[in-house]
Amino acid sequence: MKILETKRLLLRYLVPSDINSLWALYRDPEVSQYIPDAPRTYSEAKEELEWFQNGHPKHPQLGLWATIYKESGKLIGRCGLLPWTIDGQPEIEVAYLIAKAYWGQGLGTEAARAILDYGFDKLHLPRLICLIDQDNLASATVAKHIGMAFEKEWKHDLGAFLLYSRSKEPNPGH
Ligand SMILES: CC(C)(COP(=O)(O)OP(=O)(O)OC[C@H]1O[C@@H](n2cnc3c(N)ncnc32)[C@H](O)[C@@H]1OP(=O)(O)O)[C@@H](O)C(=O)NCCC(=O)NCCS
Repeated sequence: MKILETKRLLLRYLVPSDINSLWALYRDPEVSQYIPDAPRTYSEAKEELEWFQNGHPKHPQLGLWATIYKESGKLIGRCGLLPWTIDGQPEIEVAYLIAKAYWGQGLGTEAARAILDYGFDKLHLPRLICLIDQDNLASATVAKHIGMAFEKEWKHDLGAFLLYSRSKEPNPGH
């Protein structure tokens, strides 16, 4: 099922036949470097795919989605919206991961911006966050490009993250 489309990308639910492309993303150590809970084996990637294939099981409107490069039809990323509880508050993260061969062409920002708009406009979420390793400068740049601002540090069992956030702007027409 399609979630959203941008000029160059289509985001849709993951399907079982995505497994090899998904695992190809995660097995690249540079891609997984700053994602502490990234699947470390093919079978962990398969588990993750199965967990998300109809959206997040507890929040079906959220999840990690296959990110397809429209020109070739290839799966080149996995991006989406993920639920967290942070300091007792429910939060939703804009998550983005693009294959290394496609970095530096604006695709991460293109995906992230469309996901942010989808979260605010279609799902009516009041606020979105990004959780970023302090050394992940490319990710912080993407977060800033989509209007997020650094808010605080957050320490989790998985590690320490910089939390960037942005609230939905009030609609000037209302
Ligand atoms: C983060 C990621 C999605 C960015 O994808 P991308 O398609 O290269 O993103 P874009 O081209 O839209 O933008 C990247 C920006 O970061 C900048 N950037 C890249 N590497 C950088 C670095 N080491 N230091 C500072 N800025 C950097 C680029 O110059 C670009 O900025 P610009 O648009 O002002 O030129 C990609 O690097 C990725 O998938 N990384 C691995 C997974 C990951 O860490 N995801 C985020 C988890 S929080």
